[in-house]
Amino acid sequence: MKCTRRNIVKAGLLGSAFVALPAVARALPGLATKFRDQFYVGTAVSARSLNAPSGAFAATVAHQFNALTAENAMKPALLQPQMGEWRWQDADAIVKFAEQHKMLMHGHTLVWHSQTPDWFFQNKQGEPADKATLYRRQEEYINAVVGRYKGRVHSWDVVNEAEDEGKGWRKSHWYNICGPEFMERAFRLAHAADPKAHLCYNDYNMHLPQKREFLVKLFKDYIKRGVPIHGVGLQGHVGLDYPSLDELEKTIVAMADLGLKVHITELDVDVLPAPWQLASADISTKFEYDKSLNPYVDGLPDAVNEQLSARYVELFKLFIKHQQHIGRVTFWGVGDGDSWKNNFPVPGRTNYPLLFDRNLKPKPAYNALMALKL
Ligand code: G3I
Repeated sequence: MKCTRRNIVKAGLLGSAFVALPAVARALPGLATKFRDQFYVGTAVSARSLNAPSGAFAATVAHQFNALTAENAMKPALLQPQMGEWRWQDADAIVKFAEQHKMLMHGHTLVWHSQTPDWFFQNKQGEPADKATLYRRQEEYINAVVGRYKGRVHSWDVVNEAEDEGKGWRKSHWYNICGPEFMERAFRLAHAADPKAHLCYNDYNMHLPQKREFLVKLFKDYIKRGVPIHGVGLQGHVGLDYPSLDELEKTIVAMADLGLKVHITELDVDVLPAPWQLASADISTKFEYDKSLNPYVDGLPDAVNEQLSARYVELFKLFIKHQQHIGRVTFWGVGDGDSWKNNFPVPGRTNYPLLFDRNLKPKPAYNALMALKL
């Protein structure tokens, strides 16, 4: 699939701007050029990294990727830390960068249980807000954010992580105060604020059968009732040996069968020993530091680097197999040094989850993907 306007519309990645690859990527192949007929290849950034004085980070991003997500800058706690106190600077800078480099801008995230300030869910007395108050805030927030970037942000994670590991609805403030309707209401509000935006639900561990079944049932009902959901983001916080490709594929197929565009979002591969039974991306999960959990402080052994390359290759082969259903594959960061995985779920470790090293040099896993036969 070529990055023509017709194909972008066909792929469900709606937006008014014509999206071409950055000139530099055409001159020298990078990830975006390599997979230009398959899907967009994105990354997540901070405004601070884009503005880093050496310019190396910004140049790598512009060269290698054709889709952009703000890793934190578009979350409610960052955009409106206090009631009525909006901080647009970082988000604006990231959107501007995407425009300058003709990248597809993805908005992350409008409604989430985490990184949403406490005031959002409280009344003046600091007690839980009532449903009417929270709904009013939800409407004002979505109108302000989606309205500000109307026609500039192509797609949104409207709701993030509302399902709780196969246990059904996460008992978040959103759910506890409003009931499950908070989610469909968010989609309807986002659609009203920008009718051309491509609207997604985003979550981790979507390969889990119970989670998949819960969401398939929910989305089926949404689609039947005309709730404007267009895509689903499968967060790719995976490890060298989890999840199984089979389970991941079942979710890709199940979502595609509903007519939803599938996006692989937040991709990174944890190479460190796991302190848990079931991997999670819930930031509240924490384990104490122990030396045995941090074995590669002085560099990644060749054998593990090979495992990492092989894992990325098998994942990409799966994505390529389902390319007609996949709109975008987004890495959660650029270089290993900036990855959240250095501090999650154990703080202070040295992890190697991405395609570029701590000096932004392409790793063997990058070369392996670039060598894939398409
Ligand atoms: O900005 C402050 C800084 O001022 C302070 O000095 C520093 C001290 O800890 O903290 C900084 O904030 C951190 C923020 O990232 C920006 O770097 C927060 O502590 C830290 O918790 C926050 O982590 C982010 C996390 O979401 C929060 O939930 C990660 O960077 C970000 O990668 C991660 O992304 C989430 C996705 O949005 C949703 N899916 C899961 C994924 C991983 O949790």
